[in-house]
Amino acid sequence: MELLNRPRRLRGSQILRDMVRETRVSKNGLIYPVFVKEGQKIREEIAAMPGQYRYSLDTLAYELERIQKSGVRGVLFFGIPEHKDACGSGAWAEDGIVQKALELAKREFPDLYLITDVCLCEYTSHGHCGILHDHTVDNDSTLEVLAKTSLSHVQAGADMVAPSDMMDGRILAIRNTLDGAGYTNTPIMSYAVKYSSAFYGPFRDAAGSAPAFGDRKSYQMDYHNKREAIKEAELDLAEGADILMVKPGLAYLDIVKEISERFPVPCAVYSVSGEYSMIKAAAMAGYIDEAAVVGESAVSMFRAGADILISYYAKEIAGYIEEGR
Ligand code: PBG
Ligand code: ZN
Repeated sequence: MELLNRPRRLRGSQILRDMVRETRVSKNGLIYPVFVKEGQKIREEIAAMPGQYRYSLDTLAYELERIQKSGVRGVLFFGIPEHKDACGSGAWAEDGIVQKALELAKREFPDLYLITDVCLCEYTSHGHCGILHDHTVDNDSTLEVLAKTSLSHVQAGADMVAPSDMMDGRILAIRNTLDGAGYTNTPIMSYAVKYSSAFYGPFRDAAGSAPAFGDRKSYQMDYHNKREAIKEAELDLAEGADILMVKPGLAYLDIVKEISERFPVPCAVYSVSGEYSMIKAAAMAGYIDEAAVVGESAVSMFRAGADILISYYAKEIAGYIEEGR
């Protein structure tokens, strides 16, 4: 038989497979989300996300230590305040939960890179990501609040801010405010392409941020749309975004490919709470090999073009990389 092309030739041994591997995953691209909560001695497991916890400030250092030991270098903070109000004032409070977490982390873990989620839904009594006028989220009055929140994060020690609200024009508003205060070198990672997704369900349980009425479809994107993703990314880039994020991850790899190939900036992907919980539940039931599925999923996102992966499995992925899996 004259078979010239035998793709199996390059699959003959582990050493050869490793040599010709196309997608190489690095710990440097991993970011781990951390939930911080007002109170003391809190390390409570999130019911819908087994293995993930909310931490109070006094237990946070323990977790940051573990993150650092795993080799993950970036954290993404989410705050769970004691009190909520109509305008989400806890988001920009000088002694707000995220601000206090930043001060602690900056002081005790100077080698970690501190990123904050900038949004209002954890801080508003109605659970929407912006200021309400009647029963709709008002775009332009929300911008000022998001900018103020971003500035307070940076003043408290954030190395980068990541707005996740999906208001129009927020990147420009935040960029102008940061620049005006002298923070011209603080990058913005935009949740530029954020779809309205049922995969956020467990997060809303984790952060207590489910909207009290209605849904987020008037600001987050319709998942039937791809051209609109390009438009959102274009606008945010023009407004000064440094990194473009696509969210969720697994069900949106076509979008990751599109955004990473089309735009000359790093592309991040957020493998969201529902993705974590699905894998975790199946693993707990004994239906799948957790480490293998987590590794394969992570590689798929980098293969699709992502440079950065935000994942609740970041520490485990770092461990698999260390083990050479
Ligand atoms: C806040 C925010 C959400 C997520 C990140 N930032 C929730 C939402 O938009 O409802 C989702 C993260 C996840 O599901 O893991 N706007
Ligand atoms: Zn929000």
